Amino acid sequence: MGLSLAQLISLEVKDDARGGLMVAQIGAGLPFVVRRVYWLHGTKPGVARGFHAHKKLRQVCVCLAGSVRVVLFDGQREESVVLKPNHEALYLEPGLWREMHDFSPDCIFMVFADAEYDEADYIRDRQEFIRYRQGGQG
Ligand code: TYD
Repeated sequence: MGLSLAQLISLEVKDDARGGLMVAQIGAGLPFVVRRVYWLHGTKPGVARGFHAHKKLRQVCVCLAGSVRVVLFDGQREESVVLKPNHEALYLEPGLWREMHDFSPDCIFMVFADAEYDEADYIRDRQEFIRYRQGGQG
């Protein structure tokens, strides 16, 4: 897929004749101990979300149903990846601007995070984010 700003991680697939079973655990898809899980669902047509970066937070994103396009920006380059239910999860390290676009109506987008919610960890202004990266703090 050629993604360079973030890593697509392979989750464990335990599918059998009964159906699908996916596993995300330390050493097999999860690069950190999870302290928070949240998910987006029922996103209204035309809505885009995200539009922020984190200073320290690490996240692993999984699309459980439908599809969503995630746009990543490191202050210079922009990349886009479409997530769908499959064996892949998107690992986002700190210092990366992210936007979620083109949610399908049935999309369920789940995020594992290595820390509790902290508004002080957010950069919500794109110009501020660019300055933050240029300052070498990203
Ligand atoms: P917001 O950051 O605007 O979501 P997105 O980046 O997807 O557009 O979050 C919406 C609101 O929910 C905002 O008031 C912060 C709050 N929130 C929490 O309280 N805990 C959380 O874990 C998250 C992700 C958001």
